Formats: sequence, structure tokens, C-alpha cells
Amino acid sequence: MGYDLNMKVWRGDESGGDLADYVVPVEEGEVVLDALHRLQATQAGDLAVRWNCKAGKCGSCSAEINGKPRLTCMTRLSLFEPDETITVTPLRTFPVVRDLVTDVSYNYEKAKKVPALSPEPRQPDGTYRMQQEDVERGQEFRKCIECFLCQSVCHVIRDHEDNKEAFSGPRLFLRYAELEMHPLETGDHREAAKAEAGVGLCNITKCCTEVCPESIKITDNAIIPVKERVVDRSYDPLVWLGSKIFRR
Ligand code: F3S
Repeated sequence: MGYDLNMKVWRGDESGGDLADYVVPVEEGEVVLDALHRLQATQAGDLAVRWNCKAGKCGSCSAEINGKPRLTCMTRLSLFEPDETITVTPLRTFPVVRDLVTDVSYNYEKAKKVPALSPEPRQPDGTYRMQQEDVERGQEFRKCIECFLCQSVCHVIRDHEDNKEAFSGPRLFLRYAELEMHPLETGDHREAAKAEAGVGLCNITKCCTEVCPESIKITDNAIIPVKERVVDRSYDPLVWLGSKIFRR
């Protein structure tokens, strides 16, 4: 059965803005993006909303619903009471372009700094050989749809703009984990994960894992293993000895 949904939607641009009140007729089974589309079609034609697939696979429609980063296309209205007011705001960690659209280029700038894969040479028969078990370990990380909900929720940058320089965030830690665990990779990326990506600033709050729409266990399966490898390298007596000798 349909009902009138009370919504507060952030309207504005980089110079500032505010929450605007709307009442939007919605139908049973709809999601927040449906309500935003109806609002755009009937009352606020200039509302800026980024979206694409409406199936939880493109990562475009990220916004914050009642303060929590979510995909608007995967957030059912039935999660809320019919008389509850839903507040939709842009991702807090990135600069606003207009209304619900943010500039997420921070993530792409950080991605440029992730080293490329340097695989070992092919076997004499022209193939690469990998154990299925090793292949599967990194497979989970490639489910990432780059919605950047994890980046927006992470308190290291959400509340501290000045940490952005030193911290790449959970989405990029997946990339470092993928490289580190790749069965053919020849490079050692532990120093880059520490010095370039700032994995040490993560204090394992696991908020990134909680918001991931692909249910990637970002903290347990990617960040913690990368942290462990960074620590192993730092406290490896041979590495320590080498650093002393070569510093002379
Ligand atoms: Fe941030 Fe995830 Fe670590 S939310 S603090 S990167 S566990």
C-alpha cells in the first residue's frame, strides 16, 4: 500500500546548503532512489542525484541516509517506519558538487599511487600457474564496485580532512591486499602500504566492513593481513640489519 513519505534532502553546492523538506508519495517495495526519482520528477526537477544501474552494481548512487553511508538503490523504504522522516545527505567525506553529488576524485588520485602488478614470467609453455586456493584469496577484493561508502564512513578521513594526504582508505587497502596476496606478484608492497597508503592509521574500527554492499570483509581479510605483513617486515631482524648496513 502506498503512503506519503516525509523526506529531508540536502540541497546546495560547494558554497553551502541546507536540508529541504518534502513529502513524496511512495509505493510498497520501493527503495530510497525511487523516492528521489519521484521527487525529481514531480517537485524538484533540478535535484542533482548520481545513479546508473539501480541494481547495486555500479556504485554510483551512494549517499548518506539518516547519517549512514548507503546505496540509495539498495535501501528499501521498508527499513523505516512509514511515519519516520528519512534524511538524505551527500557523502560527508568528499566535497559537494551539488545536492547529493560529491566529487570523489580523492579516491582516483589515491588509486594512481597503487603500484601495478609485476607478475613473474610465464612458464616455458606460455602459461601462468597458480593454485586455485591462492587465486580465490584475492577474488573477494575484486567484488568491489567502488561506491566509496567505506571511504566515506572511515573516521580517519571522515572527521579529519588533514589526514587525507597520508591515508588512502579501506577501498585502496583492498588493492594493496590484492597485490600482496597475488600468487604471481614479485614486488614487495609493504613499505608502500605503510608509507604511501597509511595503513597504520587504521585502528580497525570495522565501520568500512559494516557498510560494504558487497559484504567484503575489508578489515579482517584485507586490512589486518596487510598490517601483519607490514609489522613482520618492520621487525624482521634481517630487514632491520639490512636497513642499518645500507644506511651507512
Ligand atoms: Fe577505517 Fe575501516 Fe580501519 S573504517 S579505521 S579503514 S577498519
